[in-house]
Parts: sequence; C-alpha cells; structure tokens
Amino acid sequence: MVDIDRARLQDLMERERQTFRERHPRSGELAEDAKRSLLFGVPMNWMTRWPGDYPVFVDRAEGARFWDADGNEFVDFCLGDTGGMAGHSPKVSVDAIAQQAAKGITLMLPTEDAAWVGSELARRFDIPYWNFTLTATDANRFAIRWARQVTGRTKVVVHNWCYHGSVDESFATLDDAGNVIAREGNVGKPVPLDETTRVVEINDLAGLEAALANEDVAVCMFEPALTNIGIVLPDPGYHEAVRELCSTYGTLLLIDETHTISAGPGGCTRAWNLRPDIVTIGKTLGAGIPSAAYGFSAELSERVYAHTDWKNADVGGVGGTLAGNALSLAAMRATLGEVMTDDAFERMIELGERFEEGVRSVIEGRELPWHVVRLGCRVEYLFRAERARNGSEAAAGQDEQLDPFIHLYLLNRGVLMTPFHNMALMSPATTGEDVDRHTEVFGRAADELLGA
Ligand SMILES: Cc1ncc(COP(=O)(O)O)c(C=O)c1O
Repeated sequence: MVDIDRARLQDLMERERQTFRERHPRSGELAEDAKRSLLFGVPMNWMTRWPGDYPVFVDRAEGARFWDADGNEFVDFCLGDTGGMAGHSPKVSVDAIAQQAAKGITLMLPTEDAAWVGSELARRFDIPYWNFTLTATDANRFAIRWARQVTGRTKVVVHNWCYHGSVDESFATLDDAGNVIAREGNVGKPVPLDETTRVVEINDLAGLEAALANEDVAVCMFEPALTNIGIVLPDPGYHEAVRELCSTYGTLLLIDETHTISAGPGGCTRAWNLRPDIVTIGKTLGAGIPSAAYGFSAELSERVYAHTDWKNADVGGVGGTLAGNALSLAAMRATLGEVMTDDAFERMIELGERFEEGVRSVIEGRELPWHVVRLGCRVEYLFRAERARNGSEAAAGQDEQLDPFIHLYLLNRGVLMTPFHNMALMSPATTGEDVDRHTEVFGRAADELLGA
C-alpha cells in the first residue's frame, strides 16, 4: 500500500483552488453580491461548506448535467444530494407540474393524485397507510410524535453518526465513555440530548438490547445502512435481530429510506425484506418539488386511530399547511409512475456497479489504501483501507484534506460529487460515458497525488 505525501497534497490543493477561481469568475461576482442580502452570503448556511472559495452558481440543469453561471458544463453525480435523483427536470414530471400549477397549487384539500401516490408507496414498501409532508425531516418528526403518542414512551434510539434531517432527537452522539452528548455543531439544542435520545452503533446488537431493555423507548429511527457518514452496511442478520428486539421490548421500528431508496424502487425495505412499523422517505419523490411521506403498518395505523384526538387534529403538532399540496402530489404521481420506475432502477443500479468497478480499478491499480462501497445506485469512496463497520469507524476514517481535494479536482474538470464526503448517485438520465468520465478523472487525481 502506498502513502499520500501530504505536502504534495497541500500544493495540489492550492493549485486547484486557484483553478477554481479562474474557471468561476462570474460565480465569484455573484457570491460577492449575495453577501449584501444573504446571511452567510448563501441561501442556506450549509452551502458555505462546499469546497472552493465560494459555491458554483447554477444557470440551468437538465437530466444528469448542469451548466454554471460561467458556462462550464458538469456531469452531476451529486444530484442535489438525492433531491434530483430523478434527473434534473424530467419532461414527464415537468409537464405534470406545469399542468397542475396552471389549475391550482395548494388548497388544503385532497386531489385525486393523493390516493394514487399512497397506493404506489404501499406497493413499493408493503406498508399500507401513508401521509404526506414537504420534507423528510418533517416525515421523521411527525412519525416520532405518533410513536410517542401510541406507546406512551418518550425516548428515541438512533445510530451513532446518523443523519435524519434537522430532527432534534437525532443530533446525538457518544463520547469516549459511551455517554450520549449533543453532536458537535448542534445549533441551540433545546434540551440535553440524553433526555430524549439513546445512541447505539449500527451492528451493535448487545448495545441495542441494553438501550431497549428499560422499555421506555418509543421508536428506533434507523437508516437501513448509514449513508451520511459514508456508507456503512449492516452485517448479515442485523436487521432481523433489530426487528426481533423491537418487538420483544415494545419499541416501534422506523426505517428512513430517504437515501437508501438507492437500493431499489422500494428501498432496502423491499430489497432486504425488512418489516418496519414505519417508513419515511423524502427528497426523491417529486423530482425536486418538495414532497415527502411517512407510512404506517396496518397494526400501527389501528393504534394511531385509537390514540387520535380528532377534534384537535389541526393543532396537534402534526401538521403543515402546505403538506400534501396539489402540486407536490402531481409531481409525485408523475415521477413515481413514469420516471423512477422499476425498470429505471435496474439501469441505475447497473451504472452504480460500473461506477464501483471504475473506482476499484483506480484504487487497486495504484495500491491505494482506500476503498469503495455501493448501495444500489449510490456509490462512495473513503480514504481508508477497510470498510467501516459502524459510525465511529466511519467518522474516524474521514480525511479532511483528501475529501475536499478530490471533490475540487473533479469539480474543476466538470464532474460534481456530493460535497462533505465523496458520494455519487446515478439517475435515469446518467449514462455509461458519464460514469467512465468520472473514472478517468478520478484516476488522474490519484496519479497526481502519487506524483506519477
Ligand atoms: C436519511 C435522511 N433522512 C432525512 C433527511 C432530511 O431530508 P430533508 O433535509 O429534505 O428534510 C436526510 C437529509 O440528508 C437524510 O439523509
């Protein structure tokens, strides 16, 4: 195995930052201008974290490509960190969105599309009853509320280094002594996190049993594989045992498929035959029009009905005036029905395999101490030799120099990966040539790092 020369890496990073500035003068001007009216100079605070001196400003996007304000063309593997996974502005979705926009956008009343989308989600996940929100964060928040309501319990269990959106309960991690603490950077935490949350490592069944044994946990909120600290896959048998433990201790099991939908049309729930009480999903459903959903098993739905205060349903803390609006439902119907189809997933997953093969050939060909991991059409490489078995190992394996360097190197050559860690998603519009382009540029980055 070879080591990366850190001094060379630093020089290369300086060069790439300079290249970035030279290739993006108009974005630079727009970034300066934005500072006059936007907090942090960006529409949302986390956009300050893109590698490069400022974010690239987008002019337009189509399929698996976009063009920036300087006229540069990109192959987009970031795809809005899953929000654009249907490909940018797929024609069928755009037509349905335009038609619906012309005849009513939001009414606080259902349209015919609502039950169609509910049935389609039921088919995909084998979960019968659904409600809609605008974000996956809200889907998780409301599902947690219902879980507390029906169980009469307060605590939530999450995986260490999980991410489920800006859900207060999920911003917890473990300190070295195994105590639950607020995750670093948690803005204005409402209460000490150990009041609401227990944290267990993925693949630690003994830890999970200890967390559930008091019978005070309302719900385990888990991604079936971690995707937000690098991909961490479950051990064989992990999910069967999680289901068993939840049933034994009267805890509900929530599976958040927002990112793991990459495993197939029904996410890991269908691909791995999971049996959750609750499924949540957002981002992908409406081709980027805010759309998300949570679904309950038949048994849980009965308990929810029994615990519903019908008179106060509008002020019970599960809400959202715009949730389930006509536009969002039309976007979901078109996107699920005609874009993110079972056939499309088959092709996307084949491209994921090709991407994984390409990355592996670069890593093995140069004996780099890195690895690649894939979940369906989502692929990620990490700069450590071994796969992480849990969130702590994955967090320790992040490389604060290599991660942004590779990202910027690719970006400067027209390939966009998810920021913060290097992850790629395939869309129905992605092509084999797009994938091969990544392999080629990634190989060049590796060669330059090795001084080859
Ligand atoms: C697994 C998972 N759940 C939920 C969310 C929250 O999605 P949103 O920010 O659209 O609410 C995310 C966001 O990255 C996520 O990765």
